[in-house]
Amino acid sequence: MRSIRRQLLFWLLAIVLLGVGLAGWLIYRQALAEANELFDYQLQEIAAALPAQPFSQVLGSRDTGDEGIVLQIWNRNGVLMYYSHPRAPLAPRAEIGFSTEHTERGDWRVYGAIVGDNVVQLAQPVSLRNRLAANVAWRTIWPLLVLLPLLGIAVWVVVGRGLAPLRRVTRALEARHPEALDPLPVTGLPLEVQPLVQALNGLLERLASVLETQKAFVADAAHELRTPLAAVQIQAQLVARAHDDVTRSEALTDLQAGVARATRLVGQLLALARSEPDQHGVPQRVELQPLLGECVAACASLAEARGVDLGIEASEAASVTGDAEALRVMFNNLLDNATKYTPAGGRVDVSLQVEAGHPVVRIDDSGPGIAPAERGRVFDRFYRVGAGANRERTDIAGSGLGLAIVRRIAGQQGAQVTLDDAPAGGLRVTVRF
Ligand SMILES: Nc1ncnc2c1ncn2[C@@H]1O[C@H](COP(=O)(O)OP(=O)(O)OP(=O)(O)O)[C@@H](O)[C@H]1O
Ligand SMILES: [Mg+2]
Repeated sequence: MRSIRRQLLFWLLAIVLLGVGLAGWLIYRQALAEANELFDYQLQEIAAALPAQPFSQVLGSRDTGDEGIVLQIWNRNGVLMYYSHPRAPLAPRAEIGFSTEHTERGDWRVYGAIVGDNVVQLAQPVSLRNRLAANVAWRTIWPLLVLLPLLGIAVWVVVGRGLAPLRRVTRALEARHPEALDPLPVTGLPLEVQPLVQALNGLLERLASVLETQKAFVADAAHELRTPLAAVQIQAQLVARAHDDVTRSEALTDLQAGVARATRLVGQLLALARSEPDQHGVPQRVELQPLLGECVAACASLAEARGVDLGIEASEAASVTGDAEALRVMFNNLLDNATKYTPAGGRVDVSLQVEAGHPVVRIDDSGPGIAPAERGRVFDRFYRVGAGANRERTDIAGSGLGLAIVRRIAGQQGAQVTLDDAPAGGLRVTVRF
């Protein structure tokens, strides 16, 4: 698992280490340049301080083995008069000025000069200068290297403290009751963590509203199912108590109607639950003309039985992107309402037109219509016109869910549903995509 703390520690230490290494190398270069300057000067000074008069005889060496500076002196005739370290791997030649000699024991810095009657040559191993520069660099950087573990501990602790608010938020979330959806406190949180907690709070808010809707829906559904089921129970009792065939048959008809109402209510409840925001299918291209034709055909026999003339008046080719099944449920509910609430002898006209590039479906009927004051409320769940206190007297069966389903689906499919007066006097429902 990737840990911010570990990554920060790793990269910080790696960068510091790289920086120390670079600093060490720069210091080494600088110290080497200075050592070269100083030692060259020293070689020159030593050469200048040597005796200028001719040597009377070849001198023996005092070879100490320590080859800090090797000295060779020749006389005018090229005879080597003095050699401080005869075992030094230097060529027996004299070159005036500074030069670097490559030997089997490394490089040597050599300085040759004419001092009076003699030619002198001073030589020094280059490794001596390198070692000196390396020592200088090392003395500068080792305290930094010693501090590195301390820096690591400090980074570990500081980052840990910086991440503490995240752990606090996690603990607060873990300790929560599943239904506690109130927002988490944002105050006191670092700037970087705030957006995360704010996003979480947004999600909690949406969850709370969905949960609220669901609870209300379940409560309403349970309440609404009680009425038709109670009716079914009474009707069943009446069937059981019937003494003659005529009363029994009448009671049975009532019972069947009651069961049909309860079935319709369950069906509508299911349709509403299916039209929940997270339930819609993959959007696809839907041709409205054939879809509407199918819905009207499906409703035709029912309309005929109710004595209502149902037909498509005008129809243009139009398509939308959406869920065909959801659209079918929406149109079926609107057609069901129009044919159900229009008295026998009336008519229902369906039209599909394209207006300003947008498909518009109109369903007009010649029924009683809905009073303007009621038009806002009929979309509410379980709301029925003329219901309320005298609900039992609502003569046409219905659960009051149809238009709620219509509005929900329209919202999801990018359509707008409006209610108006139809030219024939009834209700005009307009679905504008
Ligand atoms: N075409 C219409 N003409 C007159 N009134 C209507 C029409 N459509 C709906 N209404 C009124 O609006 C109310 C709500 O309609 P909705 O479709 O939501 O419920 P419902 O038809 O009663 O029940 P459901 O459709 O769930 O079986 C209805 O009770 C009815 O009074
Ligand atoms: Mg309805």
